[in-house]
Amino acid sequence: MSVQRRFTKFLGLAAVGALTVGLAACSSSGGSGDNADAGDLTTVGFVAVGPEGAWREANEKNIQETFTEDAGFELKYAPATNLDQKSQIDAFTSFVDEGVDVILLSATEASGWEDSLARAQEAEIPVILLDRGIDPDDPSLYITRIAPDNVEVASAVGDWAVEQFPDGGNYITLEGPAGVGVVNERNEGWDSAVDGSDLVEVAAQTANWSAEEGKSVTETLLKANNNNIQLIFAQNDEMGLGAAQAVEEAGLTPGVDVKIATIDGTLAAMEALADGQLSFVHEYNPLFGETALDVVNKTLAGESVESYIIVPSEAFDSAEAAQAVLADRQY
Ligand code: AHR
Repeated sequence: MSVQRRFTKFLGLAAVGALTVGLAACSSSGGSGDNADAGDLTTVGFVAVGPEGAWREANEKNIQETFTEDAGFELKYAPATNLDQKSQIDAFTSFVDEGVDVILLSATEASGWEDSLARAQEAEIPVILLDRGIDPDDPSLYITRIAPDNVEVASAVGDWAVEQFPDGGNYITLEGPAGVGVVNERNEGWDSAVDGSDLVEVAAQTANWSAEEGKSVTETLLKANNNNIQLIFAQNDEMGLGAAQAVEEAGLTPGVDVKIATIDGTLAAMEALADGQLSFVHEYNPLFGETALDVVNKTLAGESVESYIIVPSEAFDSAEAAQAVLADRQY
C-alpha cells in the first residue's frame, strides 16, 4: 500500500452533501503522475461489470485508459463473471485484503453491498461508485458516486415524448435487468415527466440491456396489442435497436408508425437516429475517467468532494442533430 492513510473522520457536510475525508497522505504518491518509480504507484481496485454492451465497453475502456502507470496508478481490473454479483463481492474482498489504496465500484446489483463497504471502511480504503448507485444509499459508506443523473436523463426523454404525442398514445417500456439501480432511477424520471399526460403504458418488461431481447420482447408486445403501439421507451440503446427491428418486421415504419427513444448515445444508436430508425437518443455519457481520476487524487490528498458528481450528458432529438456529431463520436 503506497499511501499511508489516517482517516480522521468522515464529516458529512449536510449543506452541500460534500464528504470530507481527513487523510494524511504520508507519501506524495497520490496518483498525480509525480511518481518516481513503480513502487510509488497508487493501487486502484476496479470492481467492474465487464462485457455488457457498447456503453459498458466505452466506460470501462475509458477508466482503464485513464488510470495508467504514466498517470501514477496501478489499475487492477476485476470484471464480473457473467454479471454475477458474487464474483464482484469476491473481487472487492480481495482488494480489501491486499490493501489497495482505493476501490472503484460499478455494481451489477444495487443491494447486497453493506458488508463489503463496512470491510473497506474498517480497512480505511475509500470506495468510489462509478455509474451505478447502491441501496441503501448511505453516502457515509462511500466517498461519492460519479454518473450522469438517470432521473434527469429519463425525465428529459419523457418530456420529449409528451411533446411528441400531445394527444397521447400507447407505449411500452423496455427496462434493464431487475435489481439494477439505474432502472429504478430511469423509471422515476420517465414517470415524473409523463404522469398527467395522455400517454398510456400498455406494458413494461425487461429486455436485459440486449438487442436480441429488445427485439423478441417488442415482437411479443406488438402482437399482444395488435400493433397499436405508437411509442417505445427503451432504457438503453441496444434494446431500442432491437425494438426497431421488431417494428420493421411487424410491417411498421420506425420513426413514422412507432417512435423509439433510447438512453446511452452509443455510435450505433446515433447512426440509427441519423437514419430515422430511432427518434430520440439521450446520452448517458460514459467518458468520465478524468473525473474519476481527479476524485481519487482529491480523496487521497484529503480534499473534500461532493457526494454525487453528475456527468453532463446531451439529448439528440433529430436526424440532423445526430448527423452533426457522428464524425466526432468518441463511443
Ligand atoms: O448503468 C448504465 C447502463 O448499463 C447503460 O445504460 C446500459 O447500456 C449498461 O448496460
